[in-house]
Amino acid sequence: MEPKIVTGNGGYTLDDVPHLSDYLSNLPTYPNPLQNNPSYSVTKQYFVDDDDTVVQKAVQHKDGPRGLHFRRQGPRQKVYYSPDEVTACIVTCGGLCPGLNTVIRELVCGLDYMYGVKNILGIQGGYQGFYARNTITLTPKSVDSIHKRGGTILGSSRGGYVLSKIVDSIQDRRINQVYIIGGDGTQKGASVIYQEVRKRGLKVSVIGIPKTIDNDIPIIDKSFGFDTAVEEAQRAINAAHTEAESVENGIGLVKLMGRDSGFIAMYATLASRDVDCCLIPESPFYLEGPGGLYEFIARKLRDNGHMVIVVAEGAGEKLEERDASGNKAFKDVGLWLSHTIKEHFAQTNLNITLKYIDPTYMIRAVPANASDNVYCTVLAQSAIHGAMAGYTGYTVGPVNGRQCYIPFYRIIEKPNKVVITDRMWARLLSSTNQPSFMNPPKDTVVGGKPTESIMPSNSFEKPSENENHVDDQHPGVNGSI
Ligand code: F6P
Repeated sequence: MEPKIVTGNGGYTLDDVPHLSDYLSNLPTYPNPLQNNPSYSVTKQYFVDDDDTVVQKAVQHKDGPRGLHFRRQGPRQKVYYSPDEVTACIVTCGGLCPGLNTVIRELVCGLDYMYGVKNILGIQGGYQGFYARNTITLTPKSVDSIHKRGGTILGSSRGGYVLSKIVDSIQDRRINQVYIIGGDGTQKGASVIYQEVRKRGLKVSVIGIPKTIDNDIPIIDKSFGFDTAVEEAQRAINAAHTEAESVENGIGLVKLMGRDSGFIAMYATLASRDVDCCLIPESPFYLEGPGGLYEFIARKLRDNGHMVIVVAEGAGEKLEERDASGNKAFKDVGLWLSHTIKEHFAQTNLNITLKYIDPTYMIRAVPANASDNVYCTVLAQSAIHGAMAGYTGYTVGPVNGRQCYIPFYRIIEKPNKVVITDRMWARLLSSTNQPSFMNPPKDTVVGGKPTESIMPSNSFEKPSENENHVDDQHPGVNGSI
């Protein structure tokens, strides 16, 4: 997808999203029906100015360039669809995440209540559902209480799909607004669907709503369901803590999701205060020797009598690969760590009791909490305003606390990671007082290989300009939408 870049004074750059009028001429426009809608009649300003944009970096230097901006979301004066012309569809793809049903509900209610759109179809079972399953009709009544349930009423799937069949189905069913809820793989799919739609010259808006419980989608402040996941993780951490403090030398070990990024583990740890050590994929750790995990565990048990460890599922991947000491290699880092800690202390005179809790799927199967429900509503309504205004090929999401339309390619570029040289990780280290694992002793052997070899060469590189810093680009995690 060709970037649509608009430049202005003082280094101002707008990374704009496509519009139907970019490839279709003489499109009719209509006054926005919201101006007759009692819900909006109370607002001071019905419509967003077309020139309103949102800056990516909230912190600016007085002499620095104005930097990258994204188009601000919101209702526009003119719409490019008359309500009775619209057939919208909604599809959910990938793993579960709290809030999926809320987004579906608010898309259906928003389309109907704000714009009078009545034809709304649910695509079942993810992308393949476009051609392998029948659609279901969605109405405000049929989705009324679905936000109280976990999962997705539409079903979901991972894996491949046939692009041409999806776009054929869109054409055959006369769908002209496609709302796609899913993670980076799904947004990549949305991007190619948009390109194919454009190639065929169809008046169809393709809109992405970003979803990942791991909160690792770039550019946006946070993804929906993340708050709920962090909150739900507290229950597992509390249980681990209760178990650990009830026995002598008790260790509670909790595994949380995060195959490639440790945001859930980091925020769940910061929220809890009962966690003594948090292990994430971005911060390689080592077991033996000064500054290692075993030494820290022994100290904690000596000082406190118990401890809690939180491990993200992707942490220590490299340690596992190098488990050449004859131990059974566990695919599950939680099981592996549990086994390896027990084995180590069995050889010392410290009698430990370790309880391992794996709440991963329980955490993502719950309904969204209050703050995620509000967030999902804002996302859904923002998505609808953009589609009605004729925008397409975009993902909706908060940047610096303001909802924006972001071109697909930005979202799928590179997943976000915890930057361990940023202040948020330092805050965690200061809160748990755990080792930073930054200085492994040179001759320490981990699973038969020198420790240095587990340190990715770029682990301490300064992040690039575009990289999301937890510090300055995740304000929404704790701030407003
Ligand atoms: O979407 C990312 C994620 O939450 C990972 O952290 C986790 O490993 C994965 O989903 C598990 O999902 P599934 O078992 O459905 O593949």
